[in-house]
Amino acid sequence: MGVGVSLSSLASAVANEGGIGVISTALIGMLEPNFRTDPGEANKSALRKEMRKARALTAGIIGVNIMVALTDYDSLFEVAFDEGADIVFVGAGIARKPKTLSLDRLTNGTTKVAPIVSSARAASVIFKYWSKNYNHVPDAVVVEGPLAGGHLGYKIEQIDNPDYSLEKILPEVISAVKPYEQQFAKSIPVIAAGGIYTGADILKFTNLGAQGVQMATRFVATHECDASIEFKEAYVNCRQEDITIINSPVGLPGRAIKNTFLEEVSAGARKPFRCPWKCLKTCKLEESSYCIALALTNAQRGNLRNGFAFAGANAYRVDRIVSVKELVMTLLAECEQT
Ligand SMILES: Cc1cc2nc3c(=O)[nH]c(=O)nc-3n(C[C@H](O)[C@H](O)[C@H](O)COP(=O)(O)O)c2cc1C
Repeated sequence: MGVGVSLSSLASAVANEGGIGVISTALIGMLEPNFRTDPGEANKSALRKEMRKARALTAGIIGVNIMVALTDYDSLFEVAFDEGADIVFVGAGIARKPKTLSLDRLTNGTTKVAPIVSSARAASVIFKYWSKNYNHVPDAVVVEGPLAGGHLGYKIEQIDNPDYSLEKILPEVISAVKPYEQQFAKSIPVIAAGGIYTGADILKFTNLGAQGVQMATRFVATHECDASIEFKEAYVNCRQEDITIINSPVGLPGRAIKNTFLEEVSAGARKPFRCPWKCLKTCKLEESSYCIALALTNAQRGNLRNGFAFAGANAYRVDRIVSVKELVMTLLAECEQT
């Protein structure tokens, strides 16, 4: 979870409980002193630092999330490989090999790659491209449904349409990937994400064929989550009617918790900014009334007056902040009961 919501603290805590802890690279360097002068370098050095901090805190599995839409996708991908990430999750676009990374490193290294998709069509496009161009296919796939938090890979009108529900698209993605398991003689786990909140939800999606789940929202309300206490409290205090869909300046819908900042923006207020770094290739900064990177960084630091929190559709169900250990135990107990 970006910006700065899932860094080494949350990732290592999750890895210590047997999960895959994921460090988000989205604007990871925003908290570095040289971000304004050299944002590309700040992002790279922040990722290196967070990877090393996480490794010092756990012997478990550490992943890195990189969005294709990031301007420095290639260089962050390289750093993730150099630092020995166990897996790279590639979202917000069609996952591809950075030009600078050799095919040998991609195919023979220890770092796995898992694209994040919102449809079977996207999974097919990626697998076909990889198979044709790299004679290699990704090691896993995350299928993210429309109940997820943050930027969504759907058009606004698709979000509530049952044809695009996770229950519907998960089996379609599994079928799209299946032929490549045979062709490349490897198992390609499909991981379900978006709105998975309880142990019963986990079982529901594993019964539908998922081999794992990716959870975000519920892990925000943990002591170890890297966001400020104000960000976590926004989750604890929100009601169902506060969860809203915004039109993000990067040209995608996003799910967030309504607040004064978002209300002012939707009423036409402009929040002046100077863009030091076009962090997302798709950002329509000339048309935008605010800088989403700045708004999300402010929120991460606790300044929700000048920012807002991304959140999944279930954020209103969060009622307290717990430890990652307690949360994982609860989820396992719920699985048992179900
Ligand atoms: C605060 C927040 C930040 C997120 N940031 C990212 C991100 O940087 N990259 C990404 O691929 N997905 C991001 N997501 C989506 C999550 O990784 C995840 O797939 C999704 O939210 C899962 O649904 P859940 O929140 O209902 O568990 C974010 C989600 C949240 C709630």
